[in-house]
Amino acid sequence: MAGNGGDTRVLVTGSNGQLGMELQRLYKEGRFKEGPMLFADMDVLDICNWSDVRSYLGVNRINVVINAAAYTNVEQAETDESAAYAVNRDGVGVLAQVCAELGIYLVHISTDYVFDGTQDEPYREDDRPNPTGVYGASKRAGEEEMLKAGGDGLIVRTAWLYSAFGKNFVKTMMRLSRERSELHVVADQFGSPTWARDLAEALLVMIGAGHRAHKRGIEIFHYTNEEHCSWCEFAMAIMHKIHANCVVNPIATSEYPATCRRPMYSVLDKTKVKRVYGLYIPTWEAALDKMLADPELKIQ
Ligand SMILES: NC(=O)c1ccc[n+]([C@@H]2O[C@H](COP(=O)([O-])OP(=O)(O)OC[C@H]3O[C@@H](n4cnc5c(N)ncnc54)[C@H](OP(=O)(O)O)[C@@H]3O)[C@@H](O)[C@H]2O)c1
Repeated sequence: MAGNGGDTRVLVTGSNGQLGMELQRLYKEGRFKEGPMLFADMDVLDICNWSDVRSYLGVNRINVVINAAAYTNVEQAETDESAAYAVNRDGVGVLAQVCAELGIYLVHISTDYVFDGTQDEPYREDDRPNPTGVYGASKRAGEEEMLKAGGDGLIVRTAWLYSAFGKNFVKTMMRLSRERSELHVVADQFGSPTWARDLAEALLVMIGAGHRAHKRGIEIFHYTNEEHCSWCEFAMAIMHKIHANCVVNPIATSEYPATCRRPMYSVLDKTKVKRVYGLYIPTWEAALDKMLADPELKIQ
């Protein structure tokens, strides 16, 4: 643990996921100077366990929680509804209630999939959620738990996350580029690919004591990398950048076998997060270049 001696004591839950690992790496690089950060995944702290959560937060004198724990398998959630709701709604409810009770600032991560994708302009924080699948519905239910519990904190919605850590679209495309000469990828669903490291950096700014001091209640923010594309354009960019010999063919959503109905357009408007926190946000293509050069990137 880097020797940070400030007053802020941060806990990151779900710390072995993509976002959690990027937060761990930034902390090890000395990028958070306001106090110690503790990292706990499921094996150390199950966010669904009320008494464990209460005791962990109290004993460790935590005053900021970043909740990176979630059930994130969008397809599997359709047939495993109770598991998705257990973590994404009930686990968030536990964290939100305990944080509200103990006066802990909770930063919870949510998703673009709370929207139905019928809009043709970027979704703002106050646009009406209307999820199309179980994953999105369970994440929206988590947001509602947090709003209901009160207390102080942020709901930060992001989208299409990838990183050198864990499983994600970029790593899947890299693996498939070695196994196949041709791929078919959906070309009529649009969103903003987001490097988990960029989101992690933004979160470290957002939890800064200077910003927290001016925030009361729960506020929603949108954060993704800049600009948007279709899954097909994203796949083509990955293949191009890694010089793969694999042709990517566009197909329609209707031609792709999926159990979950995903939003067709889930681009998030980031005007608010840029204005309030003064953030510079890289484009998804610039972020992809950096991720592809990440020394941690290993493809099985
Ligand atoms: N991935 C995306 O494309 C995407 C898009 C939009 C929003 N988001 C949101 O962004 C956040 C971070 O996503 P991510 O991609 O970093 O997720 P991830 O890689 O799937 O990591 C989630 C972590 O949470 C852990 N976890 C699951 N249940 C838990 C529990 N009950 N208690 C404690 N930890 C638990 C998981 O452990 P196991 O692996 O052992 O289950 C995993 O280590 C999530 O809130 C997600 O909903 C993600």
